[in-house]
Amino acid sequence: MNEQDVREREEQLSYLERCRTLFAQLYEETPQTACVVTFGCQMNARDSEKLIGVLRTVGYTITESEDADFVLYNTCSVRDNANQRLYGRLGTCGGYRKNRPGMRIGLCGCMAQEEVVRKKLGESYPFVTLLFGTHNLYKFPEYLYRLLSGEKRVEEIWNDTPNIVEGLPTERKYRFKSGVNIMFGCNNFCTYCIVPYVRGREKSREAADILEEIRALAADGVTEVMLLGQNVNSYGLGLEGAPSFAQLLEQVSEVEGIRRIRFMTSHPKDLSEDLIRVLRDNEKVCKHLHLPLQSGSSHILKAMNRRYSKEKYLELALHIREEIPDLAMTTDIMVGFPGETAADVDDTLEVIRKVEFDNAFTFIYSKRPGTPASCFPNQPDEAYVKEQFARVLDLVQETSKKRAALLEGQVAEALVEEVNPSDASLVTGRLSNNMIVHFPGEASLVGSYQTVTLKKCKGFYYLGERHA
Ligand code: 5AD
Ligand code: SF4
Repeated sequence: MNEQDVREREEQLSYLERCRTLFAQLYEETPQTACVVTFGCQMNARDSEKLIGVLRTVGYTITESEDADFVLYNTCSVRDNANQRLYGRLGTCGGYRKNRPGMRIGLCGCMAQEEVVRKKLGESYPFVTLLFGTHNLYKFPEYLYRLLSGEKRVEEIWNDTPNIVEGLPTERKYRFKSGVNIMFGCNNFCTYCIVPYVRGREKSREAADILEEIRALAADGVTEVMLLGQNVNSYGLGLEGAPSFAQLLEQVSEVEGIRRIRFMTSHPKDLSEDLIRVLRDNEKVCKHLHLPLQSGSSHILKAMNRRYSKEKYLELALHIREEIPDLAMTTDIMVGFPGETAADVDDTLEVIRKVEFDNAFTFIYSKRPGTPASCFPNQPDEAYVKEQFARVLDLVQETSKKRAALLEGQVAEALVEEVNPSDASLVTGRLSNNMIVHFPGEASLVGSYQTVTLKKCKGFYYLGERHA
């Protein structure tokens, strides 16, 4: 962090202290509950851990229920259905207010950056009295202080910021694993995507700051980290003397106590040979690569501004498969981009068949206001999209089942994440390749690494047995 970032952090830490004092005075007799509702990606999940860290430090009791004294929605706007779901939830939450005098409702994250959203909130959901965006999340203690001091409404949205302010309290969902932001924003401007508009331009954190955070996490019991960025492969851009992403992975792997390193997300156009080598040779780097394809059709990829062709993607993916046969490769695929035809989807199916993705997230193209593609001609009709989406989904499911079956009977190491929520005699673990295994075990195993035989493949997960 530079000097200004450090000053900003100090200022927010001081607001946090003032919040604590004021909160204690105001609510000495009436304990207050707070709920943070998270939509969207891993970045948002990590941001929510920061928001919860602040709320807990101030004195709130954290709850999962939105029938709470303070509810904060951390939103996603990558597809319209996330926006619509949020409006539904806000409607319900507005209802709780009737029985809760003094209830506060806030909204932050990607949707707050959209002007159309802010207008709609003002018109239809005036009870949302705290609004801040993605660039100024670190100022949450200050905004909370203003609300607690009696301000009726706090709204602050920035369009960008050069600051990267970290180091406020966070409360991890899991004590043994954590996300770590290594960069923010995106410079790629894929024509369908709203992220560059709501998260701003790409900014990397200093490697020294990242490593310091990971050392502190390791000292606090974390053994698995996931390095987060919209496009981790271009890590370091604009940072003088920064390591490449592959070098950063090597440095992280040297942190004592860290046993597993994951990362998300890799843009195919920037994936280096060095990264492939580290994925292959570094034992701590998990055997999983998420490599979004989006479409298998070169002319659709061009219209999406993805900057690779079908052939380039195939060449890269098959080269990685050859170098690292035990790596699981997952992807994102979109159906229904403007101008797409069944022949384009045939190309996508061909790529799926050749690469055999271990898993794929399939999305229907969603028109996002302000993105270039929202003005493209030939926006797809519903019947076409339904039919094509089903074709892609069928093949993706068939392929991932086939890949998963390959590991049946094998022995692997699993990090136990939780007691199985629907069967308390089982625990749920994650393999290096990101697959899930359920096996008999008790709560004391959570957070430990166990050697497991993957006895039965159930399509998307395994049933296993722990070695004593
Ligand atoms: N419509 C549908 N899916 C989208 N994604 C991003 N923008 C859109 C959109 N407008 C998908 C991409 C990306 C994933 C995170 O979300 O597949 O990789
Ligand atoms: Fe969106 Fe493309 Fe950036 Fe990913 S790389 S966040 S899809 S603009």
